[in-house]
Amino acid sequence: MRKLIVPSILSADFTRLGEEVRSIQQSGADWIHVDVMDGHFVPNISIGIPVVKSLKSLNPPMMDIHLMIDNPEKIIWAFIEAGKPFVKVVTIQIEACRLLHSTLTAIRSYGVMAGVALNPGTPIVNIEEILPYVDLILIMTVEPGFAEQKFIETMIPKIKRLRQEINNSDYKPLIEVDGGIKLENIRAAAEAGANVFVSGSGIFKTEDYSKTIQAMRREIENTR
Ligand code: DX5
Ligand code: ZN
Repeated sequence: MRKLIVPSILSADFTRLGEEVRSIQQSGADWIHVDVMDGHFVPNISIGIPVVKSLKSLNPPMMDIHLMIDNPEKIIWAFIEAGKPFVKVVTIQIEACRLLHSTLTAIRSYGVMAGVALNPGTPIVNIEEILPYVDLILIMTVEPGFAEQKFIETMIPKIKRLRQEINNSDYKPLIEVDGGIKLENIRAAAEAGANVFVSGSGIFKTEDYSKTIQAMRREIENTR
């Protein structure tokens, strides 16, 4: 399948968020990644429902909403409603949700892809029982909470193991990576088996978004 490049707007200039999203769209981004943090699950607070709602008026790329919040099941519907019809994926953190099966099923029932994210310390064996209910597995390649952290190298063998497991399974969720992804290391993540690449500072802190995204595409083409 086509590999997707997904800029995280957490690294955008919020005083010009509309322009930033337009320019990322013109630069050929596949989706945009929206990082939602609650100050409980992670020690940071970022953006939420009103921002998702205002992005909608821009006719934006499809949104990949990453909920780094406790008990996401209580509020998922509000994000989906706010971003309709531009919400492609809603991803919850496996560590933050005690009702995984019903929450993932609820996300799908809204016609949205259901994602589950694993922190660096969470083993992939934890997703075994929910594979039939997920469309995307997000391997966090940094500890969640902040942009501009360093990619954790030991996540490469983890991605490889997950790719192997999916290849041997009847279920074929996408593998997304998020955290510290840049032009210099995107190829290693692709070779390990990821097919959706989130990048915040790796795109927004460069001069020319379009050039960066094109260069990233060249790096990941012809990988598995
Ligand atoms: C981290 C977020 C990431 C982050 C990525 O908690 O989930 O999406 O914004 O930013 P970079 O690419 O700068 O690590
Ligand atoms: Zn994220």
